Amino acid sequence: MTILCQAVGRSPELDASIGGGVRAADSLAEVERMLTADPGETLVVIGPDIDTEAALGFAAGQRLRRPALGVVLVREQVDVELLTRALRSGVREVVTAGELAELAQACERSRALSRSSSAPSAEEQASRGQVVTVFSAKGGCGKTTLAVNLALALADGGARSVCLVDLDLAFGDVAINLQLDPNRTLTNGLPMVGRLDETGATSLLTPYRDGLSVLLAPVTPGEAEKIPAALVSELLDALRESVDYVVVDTPSQFSEHVLNAMDASQHHVLLTTPDVPALKNLRLTLDMLDLLSYPREMRSVVLNRSDAKVGLSTEDVERVVRCPIAAYIPSSRDVPISINKGTPIRTSTPQHPVSQAITRFVQEALLKPASATAAGAGETSREPRIPPPRKQGAFARLRKGRR
Ligand SMILES: Nc1ncnc2c1ncn2[C@@H]1O[C@H](COP(=O)(O)OP(=O)(O)OP(=O)(O)O)[C@@H](O)[C@H]1O
Ligand SMILES: [Mg+2]
Repeated sequence: MTILCQAVGRSPELDASIGGGVRAADSLAEVERMLTADPGETLVVIGPDIDTEAALGFAAGQRLRRPALGVVLVREQVDVELLTRALRSGVREVVTAGELAELAQACERSRALSRSSSAPSAEEQASRGQVVTVFSAKGGCGKTTLAVNLALALADGGARSVCLVDLDLAFGDVAINLQLDPNRTLTNGLPMVGRLDETGATSLLTPYRDGLSVLLAPVTPGEAEKIPAALVSELLDALRESVDYVVVDTPSQFSEHVLNAMDASQHHVLLTTPDVPALKNLRLTLDMLDLLSYPREMRSVVLNRSDAKVGLSTEDVERVVRCPIAAYIPSSRDVPISINKGTPIRTSTPQHPVSQAITRFVQEALLKPASATAAGAGETSREPRIPPPRKQGAFARLRKGRR
């Protein structure tokens, strides 16, 4: 939306030129109230009936307080002196009244500038936490087991701050794995949709120990459907501000929520077991991620229960998935035993082969600089493992069948 500050003379043609949905205010004080209520607003157009001095003062005041906000000034007459003063005040564009095409272009230029100034820079992106999404299109492969132990290995006894998000909204079992009381869950984030900040996101977390906190899935039947997919993007974005790593456990479907998590991630950890249905689903998953143009170097394929004697060799597995395996996690009955006891194996027995395999994977694929890893693609890259910003979410890209 855009705010048009104009006491009289508003017309459909004027609104159409400004574009993007227009809200009217008849005074600058009213504009200020609207901006306070909606800090995400990016454009104010000030019409010719608003006093020039007041308009320039308003623009100067916004320059520091809301740098992403653009002010476009419309005047009956535009001269060099006005342009100079407007420029000094921080007004982005001055347009002559009635020049609707010129106004449309000025508004579009200002919006583009706001978009680029509010998007985090590469340095800011790199200094924020990393999001790691663990996914498998086949149920029961060990996603939750890996996500929990991966989060603990990343936290490494408190060396790093980590948040584990249970995105298996209907059947999440991170709470049971860690023996946590689900007093606060994703459901508590519902009143904050659309305005969730770092403080709001961290208020939803349940502390575990050793630098790990958890965002638990809803517990009551029917609550899962109430969680909008947009909340996932907001949450992951906000959590990245306060922790070093966010690990996301997922259900085994490509839901809109999962795709939003994939979009917000810097690493995709794709899990499989050495059986034909799981491998077929992994192959489909890899094709889907290719279709959605996620960089291959952000992905790692992990083979769980890798030593299970089921007639498929490692070579067979690699041939089917056409992709190198970044980690092999052995099968052990100590894993379900650890879950039944409520203490993850990485905590109870750090030297266990399963714990060791997960720790090694974390060190080699997630903690090492990008140039040294790129395990999923089998390629090396000097670029940081940050996917390019996307104009459109994965779900929308899928629906449109776009690459
Ligand atoms: N390496 C392993 N060795 C032995 N058992 C394992 C191993 N990994 C996972 N399991 C067991 O497999 C079962 C499924 O694991 P888990 O719940 O982690 O899978 P999931 O992919 O999250 O399942 P879902 O799709 O239902 O969420 C659990 O009983 C777990 O203890
Ligand atoms: Mg699970």
